[in-house]
Amino acid sequence: MPRQLFVTTALPYANAPFHIGHIMEYTQADIWVRYQRMMGLAVDFVCADDTHGAPIMIAAEKAGKTPQQFVADIAAGRAQYMDGFHIGFDNWHSTDGPENHALARQIYIDLRDNPDGSLIEARTIAQFFDPQKNMFLPDRFIKGECPKCHAKDQYGDNCESCGAVYAPTDLINPYSALSGATPELRDSEHFFFKLSDPRCVAYLSQWTQDGKLQPEVANKVKEWFTVRTNPDGSTSDGLGDWDISRDAPYFGIEIPDAPGKYFYVWLDAPIGYLASLKNLLEKRGQDYERYMANPELEQYHFIGKDIVTFHTLFWPATLHFSGRKVPDNVFVHGFLTVNNGEKMSKSRGTGLDPLKYLRLGMNPEWLRYYLAAKLSARNEDIDFNADDFMARVNSDLIGKYINIASRAAGFLTKRFAGRLGVVSEDGAAMLHHLRSERPLIEQFYETREYAKALRQTMLLADRVNAYVDANKPWDLAKNPGQEARLQDVCTVCIKAFRILTCYLKPVLPALAQQVEKFLQIEPISFANITEPLRVGHAIGSYQHLMQRVDAKQLDALFEVPSADTGATASTQPTAANAASATHPGSQSADTGASNAVPKKTGLGQPSPGGEAIAPTISIDEFAKIDLRIARIVQCQAVAGSSKLLQLTLDAGEVDGVGQPMTRNVFSGIASAYQPEQLVGKLTVWVANLAPRKMKFGISEGMVLAASHADEKAQPGIYLLEPLAGAQPGMRVH
Ligand code: MSP
Ligand code: ZN
Repeated sequence: MPRQLFVTTALPYANAPFHIGHIMEYTQADIWVRYQRMMGLAVDFVCADDTHGAPIMIAAEKAGKTPQQFVADIAAGRAQYMDGFHIGFDNWHSTDGPENHALARQIYIDLRDNPDGSLIEARTIAQFFDPQKNMFLPDRFIKGECPKCHAKDQYGDNCESCGAVYAPTDLINPYSALSGATPELRDSEHFFFKLSDPRCVAYLSQWTQDGKLQPEVANKVKEWFTVRTNPDGSTSDGLGDWDISRDAPYFGIEIPDAPGKYFYVWLDAPIGYLASLKNLLEKRGQDYERYMANPELEQYHFIGKDIVTFHTLFWPATLHFSGRKVPDNVFVHGFLTVNNGEKMSKSRGTGLDPLKYLRLGMNPEWLRYYLAAKLSARNEDIDFNADDFMARVNSDLIGKYINIASRAAGFLTKRFAGRLGVVSEDGAAMLHHLRSERPLIEQFYETREYAKALRQTMLLADRVNAYVDANKPWDLAKNPGQEARLQDVCTVCIKAFRILTCYLKPVLPALAQQVEKFLQIEPISFANITEPLRVGHAIGSYQHLMQRVDAKQLDALFEVPSADTGATASTQPTAANAASATHPGSQSADTGASNAVPKKTGLGQPSPGGEAIAPTISIDEFAKIDLRIARIVQCQAVAGSSKLLQLTLDAGEVDGVGQPMTRNVFSGIASAYQPEQLVGKLTVWVANLAPRKMKFGISEGMVLAASHADEKAQPGIYLLEPLAGAQPGMRVH
């Protein structure tokens, strides 16, 4: 029986499409899974959407959808990424599926009814409650003045201005980020997982320190056993108990025997690993309980460095103390940054949009190769650098590896009907060397040292290329007496190419398949690579295996779409008019006097507002413009510009970790308003306008304002403000 592995990646929050960081995690795990399968192991590789929690519930409400519909819409977009980047999950499920509801409830009951004493304890705690929304507020949805530096509009858990950490109750003049209402302190009964129980402490210090975790991870975890930081910034000794319940309304799984109480999303999220596996097994007609009861089953989770606590403390404790199998290991990776380490926004990523990458026709295996060439077993961050990307793909992957096949195949097909010949001693020695490196390459894949695996493979490719250069098949081909040697040398190249393809196959699965077709061979695996190709084996005709990266593709990939395409493209934008719709007519007003004379409309009436009504558009065209209500949470003058104000807008969006996020917009309204006049006001924001790079920073969309076309004759700019009742995030139709 082959070893049986159960492998997962972290379950992404179902509130946004994937960004390139997700693709990196999936690629890392996918390479490992493909490697294990090439070694003959049985692997079940699953993932799911992480659907629960207050942020998703709130985002759904803002989108005018049920949470179920909201997460289903996100889920519907997942396949294109997986197919596009060759990520071979066996199953994609949801933490809101029936399997997860049942498993989470059972696991909780098993923890509560643990025969050696319950691990669950009920305690009453005081929490902020939004009387308008009628709900308890998560810390991130409470804002107020920082108790230390008095910065306004800071979150409930820490200050972005001075960095202070505190409890939401420490905020001065707290308000609900959902409704603006002043929150009230109310008592609520919560359930706690007793991590401080001596049984837990003993078990977890063993589980985390027995040498399986990456050393840097184990060291970090060790600190949590001695000191922890409390919500108010003070510290205490040892592991703290974990609050696993939330009050209704909450999108989640109801706690057994506790109506109106739900599991905190992080309790049921990792259980979603098991739920997705169960769903897969049931689809296949396999029994989940039997599968899990296999004492040989190995369980591995790939995760990012930000969610280590959940996976090395809460998750093993949850499993162990409910009488279940615990993970064999958790593999932690660092973060991917793009072009010089600018930190990616968790929900929007940076410039590198994975779907845009695919749409531009860029080869997904370039990215897989590049990421693999950067990945190690350590949890350090890696950077996607466009120049480096191009160099590695073009000079290593294509220049060193692909070229071997293209150099040899033509001669074989043209001169020898594609048949492989006899290999003489020098070639055999080189092939022997290539094969002898297999255990090393395997070990690199096994230990997730992909950069080393690829570096080693490229060193071997260098050797093969040196062999080609020394034997010059193109010269041999000119010499009729050298037919046999030509076939010998080209045969060596093809055999070498097959071995190198094996070493690259976990990273380049689609390319390896093309190679198998071209060489007319069985699927390559680490197990069968030692069986040499016979003399007389015929290969197919060589077809181009991979294009080079074109710098233009990278330019297009990172180009920030510019706002001055289309109707306004012809005018030279100034900072003021380019950034803002506050001035629909300002371009022409700036560039000439033509608009000073009101145009006539078709009916012979003077033009309203100094300009003719624009040509008719369809309702569909209008629907493309996504206008949203946004609150101006900050507003300031822009140093170096007399026209612009810099606005920070809250349109009710949350990012990947459920934190409210804001948008930065520059608007040419400084002549009309003092910054402090606008703070707290609602306005209308063009939400889906391409971001625009300006001298002062990036403007994400614009705000709407009215003005006369002839600014000089009729000065004045008037920002739009909705009537009472409109809420940030509402769409303007
Ligand atoms: N929903 C939780 C995980 C629950 S697991 C039971 C979550 N979701 S997430 O969408 O925010 O992140 C999913 C994974 O992507 C995490 O492992 C996270 O570390 C990883 N990454 C998020 N941003 C990343 C990069 N910029 N680079 C690499 N991985 C990143 O956390
Ligand atoms: Zn502060």
